[in-house]
Amino acid sequence: VVISGTVRAAIDAEIAKYPRRRGALLPALHLVQRELGWISPETARELADIFEITPVEVLEVVSFYNMFHAEPQGRHHVHVCTNLPCSLRGARELLAKLESHLGVASGETTPDGRITLGHEECLGACANAPMMRVDDTYHEDLDAESARRIVDGLD
Ligand code: FES
Repeated sequence: VVISGTVRAAIDAEIAKYPRRRGALLPALHLVQRELGWISPETARELADIFEITPVEVLEVVSFYNMFHAEPQGRHHVHVCTNLPCSLRGARELLAKLESHLGVASGETTPDGRITLGHEECLGACANAPMMRVDDTYHEDLDAESARRIVDGLD
């Protein structure tokens, strides 16, 4: 069993709010991911039992939403916006520089488990492009040097 008793109780409380169990799957995924960091195959099997669906159905939901992770994640998420306004102001080059600085491709995690690098669609900060999201913080008006300083400062 990978889902703790505390989280299981919170999931049951969510299920009670919905006419059909399955309605609580998204809140349950948030609860589980907050505790475990990602949704492993074993976690998907446990959730499938709770929700009386198949593990594949759980993993379909996980893969549909980019806030859920089916792989272990780094301590920090560094996501560069590569939508058009940010790209016009150098976001793709900035992401390439971070990839080579960190030694990982977008979508990968550094071997020390410190950073998962990725890219995102527009985060609504186009006026200050290019930008990236580090966990819950936006960093705007970036260039390669300022982006590198920010990632180097992460623990
Ligand atoms: S395009 Fe990057 S924040 Fe909108």
